[in-house]
Amino acid sequence: MQQKLPNGGPKASKLEAILNSAVAAIITIDTSGLIDSINPATERIFGYHADELIGQNVRILMPEPFHNEHDSYISNYLSTGRRKIIGVGREVMGKRKDGTTFPLDLSVSEFVAGGKRYFAGIITNLSDRRRVEEALLESERKLAQAQRLEAIGQLTGGIAHDFNNLLTVITGNLELIEMSVQGEHLHKMLRDAQEAADLAAKLTSRLLAFARRSHLEPEILETNDLVLNVTSMLRRTLGEHISLSTVLSPDLWQVKVDPTQAESSLVNLAINARDAMSKGGKLVVETRNIRMDEVKSGDAIELPHGDYVQISISDTGTGMPAEVRDRAFEPFFTTKTRGHGTGLGLSMVYGFAKQSGGHVTIYSELGYGATINIYLPRANGTMDAAVAADAEPSPRRGETVLVVEDDDGVRDLTVTRLATLGFKIYESSDGASAIRFLESGLKVDLLFSDLMLPGGLTGYDIARKAREIYPGIRILLTSGYAEDLLRTENLGGIKLLRKPYRLADLRSALDAVLNGPP
Ligand SMILES: Nc1ncnc2c1ncn2[C@@H]1O[C@H](COP(=O)(O)OP(=O)(O)OP(=O)(O)O)[C@@H](O)[C@H]1O
Ligand SMILES: [Mg+2]
Repeated sequence: MQQKLPNGGPKASKLEAILNSAVAAIITIDTSGLIDSINPATERIFGYHADELIGQNVRILMPEPFHNEHDSYISNYLSTGRRKIIGVGREVMGKRKDGTTFPLDLSVSEFVAGGKRYFAGIITNLSDRRRVEEALLESERKLAQAQRLEAIGQLTGGIAHDFNNLLTVITGNLELIEMSVQGEHLHKMLRDAQEAADLAAKLTSRLLAFARRSHLEPEILETNDLVLNVTSMLRRTLGEHISLSTVLSPDLWQVKVDPTQAESSLVNLAINARDAMSKGGKLVVETRNIRMDEVKSGDAIELPHGDYVQISISDTGTGMPAEVRDRAFEPFFTTKTRGHGTGLGLSMVYGFAKQSGGHVTIYSELGYGATINIYLPRANGTMDAAVAADAEPSPRRGETVLVVEDDDGVRDLTVTRLATLGFKIYESSDGASAIRFLESGLKVDLLFSDLMLPGGLTGYDIARKAREIYPGIRILLTSGYAEDLLRTENLGGIKLLRKPYRLADLRSALDAVLNGPP
């Protein structure tokens, strides 16, 4: 315990040992709110050194509104004797030295020592528990979504299958009748009936696609050719207001899929993007090889390990709120007005990707556009030794990295990975706290930041500020949005790492940035 403890002796030293080894932060303050003593856990949890805290008003550890109101809590209690927090535990927010806030459980007691009144606060950091709870909720949400789609798939698949048989009988008989009746009037009626049956057949075939019961004729394809076929057609049909570009990886693996369904999946995605960009925007189609082994976070967890080709379609349109994103694959889920969407486009893409042994994910936030990633298994896939070998970590010499990432799961993973690579790590969850951290004067060799962050500041803004503060700082940004890859052209050479990435990708990107010019 820093700061004096009254009455020495064996009892006191045992007490002191307890305070020093406690996991919880234990802070005592006097009746004017000034910190009298703290234990080592307080330093760990709040990121301050004891010298910086003792004698300060305890408000320093509180964000608004507690910060401003704390003095009045104490004076209220002292004048009225009414206890609001003393004797009971409650969950409040704390503020670390770097400005980040976190949930904590606080219980306060009161004691008299040496004739003076004090308050003691015992504080348990709840952010780890929250993180675990949130990760659990997220995986439950994903599981529930997968189960819902599975159930709807079985139902629609069954109905669509029966409908297909019924429609075959209807259209077949309509054709036979058409051959044997006379008269323009009757023929018109038959044509109308035939057209309706054709529409119904299209609908059922999309439902069958969703239910993974399409008739597929897979062929081995060069994935970039597949993409180029579609984009050359889209260039003509999307309209002037949408600029279409491709970022195609050379040496792309082949895939084995049904070409017609693959093309119509890409067309569906492009049409969705167009619809989301009524005022114009950018559409980017990107391809790359991806090995599912260590990419555990976020994107493609539902895929077995192995080699895949990823096709990403990104737009700069309206984006989707979480409620839409979570239901977008469901058949007949649409936010479009009647006649403008049936809600089967993404269902078909989902079914196609799944039936082909792959997967599809949506990466979107309201106001930030959308990226849809399709993963297709590599044809005749074998791991090539060259790629597999480069995954070995090369320990660094303890350079300091500031990680800025709002997603707790991804940040944890990044921190672990960076530690494996031998870096010293600081972390922030948003732009404002990252900048405060940089301004605090602690030396940072490299800023590794997500591009899209909550709170208005982007990775670019932090990068700009970081360069002002430390002209020699190295910068690596990361993003799941393919569109950002294009914007980096105007960024004075800042390197961008595309999410999700492998440990080997992270290592070589960091090596390149650290060994290159600032
Ligand atoms: N690129 C995108 N940007 C924003 N929202 C999207 C995007 N793609 C899909 N959505 C949302 O997901 C919903 C479902 O998409 P889906 O393609 O399944 O159906 P639809 O486009 O509404 O109809 P259909 O494709 O059958 O014509 C859309 O209505 C829209 O709200
Ligand atoms: Mg659609």
